[in-house]
Amino acid sequence: MKTLRLIFGLPVLNFYSMTPLTVATVASSTYDSASAMTAVRDQFPLLKTRAHGRPLIYLDSAATTQKPAPVIDAMADYYASRNANIHRGAYHLSQSATGLYESARARVARFIGAAEPAECIFTRGTTESINLVAAAWGRANLRAGDEIILSELEHHSNIVPWQLVAQATGALIKVIPIEDNGALRLDQYRALLSSRTRLVAVTAVSNALGTLNPVREMIADAHAAGALVLIDGAQWVAHGRTDVQALDADFYAFSGHKLYGPTGIGVLYGKRLLLAAMPPYQGGGDMIEHVCFAKSTYAEIPNRFEAGTPHIAGAVGLAAAIDWLSEVGLERVAAHEHRLLRQATDRLSAIPGLAIKGTAPSKTGVLSWVVTDPPLATLDIGTRLDLQGICIRTGHHCCQPLMERLGVAGTARASFGVYNTAQEVDRLADALAEIVDQVRQARPATAGPIAMTGHDAPLAVASALTCMYPAATAASPAAAAQDILDLFDDLPDWPMRYQQIIDLGHGLPPMPPALKTKENFVPGCQSLVFLASRIRPGTTDIIEFMADSDAELVRGLIALLRQLFSGQHAAAILAFDTPAFIDRLGLAGHLSLTRRNGLEALIQRLRRVASVAAGPVIAQSAAQSTHSRRPQHGRPGSRLPTTTANQSERR
Ligand SMILES: Cc1ncc(COP(=O)(O)O)c(C=O)c1O
Repeated sequence: MKTLRLIFGLPVLNFYSMTPLTVATVASSTYDSASAMTAVRDQFPLLKTRAHGRPLIYLDSAATTQKPAPVIDAMADYYASRNANIHRGAYHLSQSATGLYESARARVARFIGAAEPAECIFTRGTTESINLVAAAWGRANLRAGDEIILSELEHHSNIVPWQLVAQATGALIKVIPIEDNGALRLDQYRALLSSRTRLVAVTAVSNALGTLNPVREMIADAHAAGALVLIDGAQWVAHGRTDVQALDADFYAFSGHKLYGPTGIGVLYGKRLLLAAMPPYQGGGDMIEHVCFAKSTYAEIPNRFEAGTPHIAGAVGLAAAIDWLSEVGLERVAAHEHRLLRQATDRLSAIPGLAIKGTAPSKTGVLSWVVTDPPLATLDIGTRLDLQGICIRTGHHCCQPLMERLGVAGTARASFGVYNTAQEVDRLADALAEIVDQVRQARPATAGPIAMTGHDAPLAVASALTCMYPAATAASPAAAAQDILDLFDDLPDWPMRYQQIIDLGHGLPPMPPALKTKENFVPGCQSLVFLASRIRPGTTDIIEFMADSDAELVRGLIALLRQLFSGQHAAAILAFDTPAFIDRLGLAGHLSLTRRNGLEALIQRLRRVASVAAGPVIAQSAAQSTHSRRPQHGRPGSRLPTTTANQSERR
């Protein structure tokens, strides 16, 4: 039975061990938390740095944790004085490195309560651990009609590998639905279990909502139905005790970097009997017993699943992280993070217009929210907080099916680690309240949320609005770019440039709702983006367009593109080196990969329109000339990209 204690009214759950948290442990953990946690925080060098001139507030531990000095030191020491390849050398240094690596495995086994170190395979992380099971166990054991049960809470890492193996074997995927609050529907889970179920793969904790799943009961139910269970422990291992034997988990996956350890190292735990019966995942050195050209035989576990030179320094760092975290005490960590969660939940739910997503009764220190009144894209929340030195995550959190279930494109998410403080939570809440207030003041009351128009929308409205397509602002894209650069060159830092982009976005006229159609939707952006274009009446190749987004940063970028391109000749648009211009503006370093992809999707949409208008010959030669100029213009500070002489003359 799960153990439940209340700390400041919050449940401290210990699903993973048969040992209940004692009252004494809990009492001392809450009593000493403020001063002791300051000492813990002091061990993280990165948390002493500043961002945009403000003290850094790191609230993205669910993505990756910061690293304490003992972990950094252990890895530096390994490379400085112990580095050698393992399992291979007759010399002392190699044996010493092998000893460190295998000692790390033993510490991992102790940490998660495995019966023996050989049941712990070192991988690159949770993703590889799950892929290993899907590829090695799945392909050997799944047949057409077999069923794999996942849940709506899963990270893509615990969905896509199963889709791949289902496609290869004919197995079927079933999905446990959630309640609106983000809790798993256990009644539905039990209804899905049957003699066809071969595997249940479920997360211990939702990375997007913080929901803590009752995995011990779920494992017992699966076993009763004759199915195996893989637990994705990525979001649990740093937040409470794990005991794979008490859980009776068949497979358990986690990553070192979410556990205060290094990136590139993770663990797959598997019961000996299962691992020993599985074929190799990858072939190479170290995983064999004997190789000849006719046939190879394979090493015993764990080596069978560790082909090639492993991440030895990573294993050393992970072991150091485990030692460090065990010394801090997982019960103390859980109590501390629960207090932060409660404080953050109280403070953020008091902000008008903000809605918390994920309010299941059992949660870890993850808080997700959206701002609906005024509608504020999560990207804008994240970018505005960043300017105040506050790091949060925005978007779909690699959980697109979950976002779809919740009816949102994404959420803003703060996730807590052992080093976070009550003051940081207050700063987050104060900053958020201020941002929401500022946006409310700045937005006209009529500006509603941007949404897609239905197919039967009155498109006649759109034609009545043709006069809204913007004309050129300069003689060519290059001339328009120079105007923009003249403005931006006077803004020395990113906060000022960001504000300028936001201001440009505020000046962008809203797109008529009738034009926000499926055809005008631009996929590939995290935010909703629409672009409608036309060839200016009376011309054959002058492109005019309007575009809109729910994110104010994207609206700003649209305003820039509009100034560059709307009203310009198709060939001039195609000849203009937009990526170089974006680099020159200093945008590249401040846009996330998904945002850059979104901007790229917009630019590509425009270029496609321009290509059609320009005709194939011009389109191809323009593309080639842009391509050949790119390296030169890609350098920061290089001169402005230009159109070719021909195209300038055509205007
Ligand atoms: C629940 C969950 N599963 C799997 C992963 C993938 O972990 P990694 O990228 O370390 O392999 C993550 C990462 O955020 C996660 O939160």
